[in-house]
Amino acid sequence: MDLSPPRGTRDFYPEDMRLRTWLFDHFREVARLYAFEEYDTPLIENEELYTRKGGEEIVQQLYAFEDKSGRRLAMRGEMTPSLARLVLQKGRSLPLPLRWFSIPQCWRYERMTRGRRREHYQLNMDIFGVAEVTAEIEILSAIVTILERLGLSPGDVVIRISNRKLLQGTLEQSGIPEDQFESICVLVDKLEKVPEETVRDQMTALGVSTDQVDRIVTTLSLKSLDEAAATMGADQSGIVELQQLFDLASSYGFADWLAFDASLVRGLAYYTGTVFEAFDRGGSLRAICGGGRYDRLLSTFGGKDIPACGLGFGDAVIVELLRDRQLLPEPERNIDDVVFAFAPDLRDAAMQTARRLRRRGRSVDLILEDRKLKWALKYAGGCGAARLVLIAPDEWAAGMVRIRDLADGCERDVSADAL
Ligand code: HAM
Repeated sequence: MDLSPPRGTRDFYPEDMRLRTWLFDHFREVARLYAFEEYDTPLIENEELYTRKGGEEIVQQLYAFEDKSGRRLAMRGEMTPSLARLVLQKGRSLPLPLRWFSIPQCWRYERMTRGRRREHYQLNMDIFGVAEVTAEIEILSAIVTILERLGLSPGDVVIRISNRKLLQGTLEQSGIPEDQFESICVLVDKLEKVPEETVRDQMTALGVSTDQVDRIVTTLSLKSLDEAAATMGADQSGIVELQQLFDLASSYGFADWLAFDASLVRGLAYYTGTVFEAFDRGGSLRAICGGGRYDRLLSTFGGKDIPACGLGFGDAVIVELLRDRQLLPEPERNIDDVVFAFAPDLRDAAMQTARRLRRRGRSVDLILEDRKLKWALKYAGGCGAARLVLIAPDEWAAGMVRIRDLADGCERDVSADAL
């Protein structure tokens, strides 16, 4: 039998789990710093929650199946549709704005590259109920806080930013029907991965003329916000929002992490305004995190729209980058005490001692078999405990236990009651 996990999935041995917990603790702490509340949803949803039309990769990559009662279900590839479902379910009773976060495991049948897998965990932070770019700024600021806590700087990572309203303006000016907007965004996102000719052909198949495609490509090639303003007009809504966003980022003090990139649109259909993605400056890895504004997702599920924006920050790419930069810690086990009885008839005493220590909140490993002191010392050293608590016959008879500090080897006797 093949003992490896299914292709593209990971096992987490305890040492891997310690690292994952270390990363998630950073995620949780940043969510707390920004006052986001945690939520969760089932890993499996009705398939229809995800099956949007428009050729998105994420839909083609769904792990979908039929359950025993014939229901079409799918494992989540991302959290945003489930979050939208939660918001819709509560309707008006939900006080807005809301700031919610979650760290779901997501499943996508991906072609694998470094840092890309078929399952990954993804910190999601979303704000519902704020239409202004002040919401994006909070989300971006949270990303920067995470990156800084992990030891990274603007020299390591750049957050590329654009706004889909630039492309939307171009489509309007070129006379391309509004209902083509999402499909065109999804196609444009492929430009980095597939040859331009293929994308052009696919656009032509949507009914977009060569001239219109050229205008789209021109918009995507704009080099700076100034150039974009000169070409499209400083009052174009996408330009206005981007300008506000960069101004606010300066006020917050993290503008040096951001760069305008007109070619960024992102591959998910539902974004309506700001879009962003963080990359390592070396350019060898896929996106570290990404997100944006999606003000019209709820109506695609038949509900009333609420402005929203948020981010997804995966656990895989960031770990690759931190490994390259030698910024990955090797978290210890954090055991306080190992309790060892010198003889089988002192087991009861050892158990009492362990119980007393645990009641005081200490992490205690109790040696459960008959062993020699040498073995116990080696074991306690190996598991990274701070102290070895020795239960010896004479000392115990006198109400004492011996404590050995494993860092310096010093021993002292203390009253068993005072532990
Ligand atoms: P996404 O860009 O598809 O966005 O994914 C967000 C992040 O999840 C990526 O930048 C990456 O860190 C991680 N990720 C995605 N796919 C994989 C994979 N196959 N292997 C490893 N990591 C991966 C979304 O999912 C949006 N729902 C994010 C969002 C939340 N937008 C608004 N709110």
